[in-house]
Amino acid sequence: MSGFAQDQWYVAAYTQEVGTELLARTVCGEPIVFYRKSTGEVIGLFDRCAHRRYPLSEGHLSDDQLVCGYHGFTYDGTGVCTYVPGQKRVPRTARVISYPVAELDSFVWVWIGDPANADVTTIPRAPWMDHENWTTVSGMEPLDARYGLLIDNLLDLSHETYLHGGYIGTPEVAETPTTTEVDEAASVVYVSRRMTDVECPSFYARSTGITGRIDRWQDIEYHAPCLYLLHSRIAPTGVAPGADGDDSGAAHAEIVYAVTPSTETTTMDFWGVARDFARDDVSVSEFLFSNNREVVMQDVVALNLLEKVIATEPDGYQELSINIDTGGLAGRRMLQRLTEGVAPIPVPTA
Ligand code: FES
Ligand SMILES: [Fe+2]
Repeated sequence: MSGFAQDQWYVAAYTQEVGTELLARTVCGEPIVFYRKSTGEVIGLFDRCAHRRYPLSEGHLSDDQLVCGYHGFTYDGTGVCTYVPGQKRVPRTARVISYPVAELDSFVWVWIGDPANADVTTIPRAPWMDHENWTTVSGMEPLDARYGLLIDNLLDLSHETYLHGGYIGTPEVAETPTTTEVDEAASVVYVSRRMTDVECPSFYARSTGITGRIDRWQDIEYHAPCLYLLHSRIAPTGVAPGADGDDSGAAHAEIVYAVTPSTETTTMDFWGVARDFARDDVSVSEFLFSNNREVVMQDVVALNLLEKVIATEPDGYQELSINIDTGGLAGRRMLQRLTEGVAPIPVPTA
């Protein structure tokens, strides 16, 4: 089945991207124009004029209303047309869809589906992105590949060893088995890899200052369809969290991806790295930004190539899956269920 999971929140932008300039973004195949009213409220309207379908993002704002750049139809933040040229009466049908939007954790989220079902309390959280106790670097790279390929990629980090060798990949990542758990009701896939007494990749050696062997944890939470969290813990080998939960002997990085399908074969790849170490060191921020962006681009290049292969050889390829694919396959099944609108099987209660 094609299409995208409906009645879901997706990240459309970073909050700082939305201001009084019009911002056009395509989310799940729907063209949307975003802007911020003088009250601070973010508005998302269908980016096609009701008159002749001209993109509203080519127009301009006037007193918080959006004026179409072709013939001047003017819309308020609810999508209702308040002015048409050449006549006093505004047709009742002169309106465009206004999308539910919410700002949370540095992201602008948009609801794709029936607006009546939008509930901001169901948005999955990534609090580190703009929390005062964390220092964050972030970016967004457009991907010329279907978003499922990026979900596959992120749920199987064994590729770090090969695709990101010398950055975040070391031999032990591919060698260490993972555990996978699925919470169907919450639409979350958990994948965990715990490595003991392993090499410290340059990404963490240079940013944390740890020089020797490390214990390295990678605990993934994928909140389908859009939000991916990687809780990364790096500590000198043998340094464990205390019985009281104190883990100040370790360095922590919260790696956040928002994976938003734009069209069937293009994706917005929002990424962030939040850290609790070297928080005021600007050179560490610069290093993590440029190094992580290079890692992201290594994935982008590989997935763009895969998409080209899929497009030119659409039929008859039988994939071979192994243990490392358990998380990715769980993610695929969950996305398929959400896309087909099938409710999870209820968990029996005792
Ligand atoms: S297309 Fe927008 S006013 Fe004509
Ligand atoms: Fe990767």
